[in-house]
Amino acid sequence: MSDNQPEDGSKRDFIFLATGAAAAAGVAAIGWPLVAQMGKAADTLAAGSIEIDLSKIAEGQQLKMLWRGKPVFVRHRTAEEIAKAEAVELADLKDPATDAERLVPGTSGEVDPKYLVMVGVCTHFGCVPVGEAGDYEGWYCPCHGSHYDTSGRIRKGPAPTNMAIPPYSFVNETTIKVG
Ligand code: FES
Repeated sequence: MSDNQPEDGSKRDFIFLATGAAAAAGVAAIGWPLVAQMGKAADTLAAGSIEIDLSKIAEGQQLKMLWRGKPVFVRHRTAEEIAKAEAVELADLKDPATDAERLVPGTSGEVDPKYLVMVGVCTHFGCVPVGEAGDYEGWYCPCHGSHYDTSGRIRKGPAPTNMAIPPYSFVNETTIKVG
Protein backbone atom coordinates (compact mmCIF):
# COMPACT_ATOMS: atom_id res chain seq x y z
CA MET A 1 0.00 0.00 0.00
CA SER A 2 1.30 3.46 -0.79
CA ASP A 3 1.14 6.28 1.70
CA ASN A 4 -1.48 8.13 -0.28
CA GLN A 5 -4.24 5.60 0.15
CA PRO A 6 -6.73 5.15 2.95
CA GLU A 7 -5.72 2.49 5.39
CA ASP A 8 -7.39 -0.84 5.64
CA GLY A 9 -7.78 -2.83 8.80
CA SER A 10 -4.44 -4.61 8.58
CA LYS A 11 -2.39 -1.45 8.74
CA ARG A 12 -4.68 0.82 10.60
CA ASP A 13 -3.82 0.06 14.15
CA PHE A 14 -0.80 1.23 15.98
CA ILE A 15 -0.07 2.78 19.32
CA PHE A 16 1.80 5.94 19.72
CA LEU A 17 2.37 7.97 22.83
CA ALA A 18 2.03 11.55 21.66
CA THR A 19 4.17 13.46 24.08
CA GLY A 20 6.38 16.36 23.17
CA ALA A 21 9.68 15.81 21.44
CA ALA A 22 9.39 12.07 21.81
CA ALA A 23 6.27 12.26 19.69
CA ALA A 24 8.04 13.97 16.82
CA ALA A 25 10.83 11.41 16.88
CA GLY A 26 8.31 8.61 17.01
CA VAL A 27 6.44 9.88 13.99
CA ALA A 28 9.60 9.79 11.93
CA ALA A 29 10.61 6.41 13.24
CA ILE A 30 7.39 4.57 12.55
CA GLY A 31 6.59 6.24 9.25
CA TRP A 32 3.30 7.79 10.22
CA PRO A 33 0.75 6.74 7.59
CA LEU A 34 0.01 10.19 6.36
CA VAL A 35 -2.06 10.68 3.31
CA ALA A 36 -0.26 13.62 1.85
CA GLN A 37 -1.85 13.66 -1.57
CA MET A 38 -5.51 13.52 -0.66
CA GLY A 39 -6.37 17.15 -1.15
CA LYS A 40 -4.11 20.08 -0.63
CA ALA A 41 -2.36 18.82 2.45
CA ALA A 42 1.15 19.84 1.53
CA ASP A 43 0.54 23.47 0.70
CA THR A 44 -2.07 24.07 3.34
CA LEU A 45 -0.15 22.50 6.20
CA ALA A 46 1.92 25.63 6.45
CA ALA A 47 -1.25 27.60 7.07
CA GLY A 48 -2.30 25.16 9.74
CA SER A 49 -5.14 23.60 7.79
CA ILE A 50 -5.62 20.55 5.62
CA GLU A 51 -8.23 19.64 3.03
CA ILE A 52 -9.48 16.08 2.86
CA ASP A 53 -11.37 14.47 -0.01
CA LEU A 54 -13.97 12.29 1.68
CA SER A 55 -14.92 10.56 -1.57
CA LYS A 56 -11.66 8.60 -1.47
CA ILE A 57 -12.49 6.95 1.84
CA ALA A 58 -14.52 3.80 1.34
CA GLU A 59 -17.21 2.74 3.76
CA GLY A 60 -15.63 1.05 6.73
CA GLN A 61 -12.27 2.73 6.16
CA GLN A 62 -10.48 5.28 8.27
CA LEU A 63 -8.02 7.87 7.12
CA LYS A 64 -5.37 9.26 9.42
CA MET A 65 -3.94 12.69 8.74
CA LEU A 66 -1.50 14.78 10.70
CA TRP A 67 -2.85 18.20 11.60
CA ARG A 68 -0.88 20.63 13.74
CA GLY A 69 1.17 17.75 15.09
CA LYS A 70 -1.81 15.62 16.01
CA PRO A 71 -3.39 12.66 14.26
CA VAL A 72 -6.86 13.30 12.87
CA PHE A 73 -9.11 10.33 12.19
CA VAL A 74 -11.64 10.58 9.38
CA ARG A 75 -13.83 7.53 9.42
CA HIS A 76 -16.44 6.64 6.81
CA ARG A 77 -18.76 4.80 9.15
CA THR A 78 -20.91 1.85 8.22
CA ALA A 79 -24.67 1.92 8.70
CA GLU A 80 -24.21 -0.38 11.68
CA GLU A 81 -21.68 1.93 13.31
CA ILE A 82 -23.99 4.90 12.82
CA ALA A 83 -26.97 3.02 14.23
CA LYS A 84 -24.96 2.04 17.31
CA ALA A 85 -23.78 5.61 17.85
CA GLU A 86 -27.28 7.04 17.52
CA ALA A 87 -28.87 4.45 19.82
CA VAL A 88 -26.84 5.40 22.88
CA GLU A 89 -28.67 7.07 25.75
CA LEU A 90 -27.08 10.29 26.98
CA ALA A 91 -27.50 9.06 30.54
CA ASP A 92 -25.05 6.25 29.77
CA LEU A 93 -22.26 8.64 28.79
CA LYS A 94 -19.46 9.97 30.98
CA ASP A 95 -19.13 12.98 28.66
CA PRO A 96 -22.67 13.38 27.29
CA ALA A 97 -23.01 14.33 23.64
CA THR A 98 -25.32 13.04 20.96
CA ASP A 99 -23.77 11.62 17.83
CA ALA A 100 -25.22 14.50 15.80
CA GLU A 101 -23.58 17.04 18.09
CA ARG A 102 -20.21 15.58 17.14
CA LEU A 103 -20.77 16.15 13.43
CA VAL A 104 -20.61 19.24 11.25
CA PRO A 105 -23.31 20.04 8.64
CA GLY A 106 -22.36 19.83 4.98
CA THR A 107 -22.89 22.51 2.35
CA SER A 108 -26.58 21.55 2.19
CA GLY A 109 -26.96 22.40 5.85
CA GLU A 110 -27.64 18.76 6.67
CA VAL A 111 -25.45 16.52 8.76
CA ASP A 112 -24.20 13.41 7.00
CA PRO A 113 -23.61 10.83 9.73
CA LYS A 114 -21.31 8.76 7.51
CA TYR A 115 -18.23 10.84 8.23
CA LEU A 116 -16.80 11.16 11.71
CA VAL A 117 -13.82 13.52 12.10
CA MET A 118 -11.88 13.46 15.37
CA VAL A 119 -8.55 14.27 16.88
CA GLY A 120 -7.23 10.73 17.25
CA VAL A 121 -5.71 11.18 20.67
CA CYS A 122 -6.85 9.47 23.86
CA THR A 123 -8.00 12.07 26.36
CA HIS A 124 -6.28 10.25 29.23
CA PHE A 125 -2.55 10.60 28.54
CA GLY A 126 -2.43 11.06 24.80
CA CYS A 127 -1.93 7.65 23.21
CA VAL A 128 -3.42 7.04 19.77
CA PRO A 129 -6.35 4.63 20.10
CA VAL A 130 -6.81 1.60 17.89
CA GLY A 131 -9.83 1.55 15.59
CA GLU A 132 -12.60 -1.04 15.39
CA ALA A 133 -11.67 -2.28 18.82
CA GLY A 134 -12.77 -2.29 22.41
CA ASP A 135 -16.00 -3.20 24.13
CA TYR A 136 -17.99 -0.70 22.05
CA GLU A 137 -16.34 -1.55 18.70
CA GLY A 138 -15.25 2.02 18.18
CA TRP A 139 -11.72 2.74 19.37
CA TYR A 140 -9.64 1.25 22.14
CA CYS A 141 -6.67 2.79 23.88
CA PRO A 142 -4.45 -0.03 25.11
CA CYS A 143 -2.17 2.23 27.13
CA HIS A 144 -4.49 2.11 30.13
CA GLY A 145 -7.67 0.58 28.75
CA SER A 146 -10.05 3.29 27.57
CA HIS A 147 -12.94 2.21 25.37
CA TYR A 148 -14.58 4.63 22.94
CA ASP A 149 -17.76 3.99 20.99
CA THR A 150 -18.43 4.44 17.27
CA SER A 151 -18.90 8.16 17.85
CA GLY A 152 -15.56 8.44 19.64
CA ARG A 153 -17.22 8.96 23.00
CA ILE A 154 -15.57 7.60 26.11
CA ARG A 155 -17.54 4.68 27.50
CA LYS A 156 -15.20 2.82 29.83
CA GLY A 157 -11.74 3.28 31.31
CA PRO A 158 -9.75 6.21 32.67
CA ALA A 159 -10.08 8.74 29.84
CA PRO A 160 -12.15 11.67 31.16
CA THR A 161 -13.71 12.96 27.96
CA ASN A 162 -14.66 12.03 24.42
CA MET A 163 -12.07 12.25 21.69
CA ALA A 164 -12.08 15.86 20.52
CA ILE A 165 -13.67 17.15 17.34
CA PRO A 166 -11.29 19.48 15.51
CA PRO A 167 -12.55 22.69 13.92
CA TYR A 168 -13.55 21.80 10.38
CA SER A 169 -16.02 22.76 7.66
CA PHE A 170 -17.16 21.53 4.28
CA VAL A 171 -15.57 23.22 1.27
CA ASN A 172 -17.91 21.36 -1.07
CA GLU A 173 -20.06 18.25 -0.87
CA THR A 174 -17.12 15.88 -0.55
CA THR A 175 -14.25 17.96 0.79
CA ILE A 176 -13.62 19.16 4.31
CA LYS A 177 -11.10 21.66 5.55
CA VAL A 178 -9.66 20.95 8.98
CA GLY A 179 -8.25 23.94 10.82
S1 FES B 1 -3.58 7.21 27.41
FE1 FES B 1 -5.36 6.17 26.71
S2 FES B 1 -6.04 5.11 28.44
FE2 FES B 1 -4.33 6.19 29.17
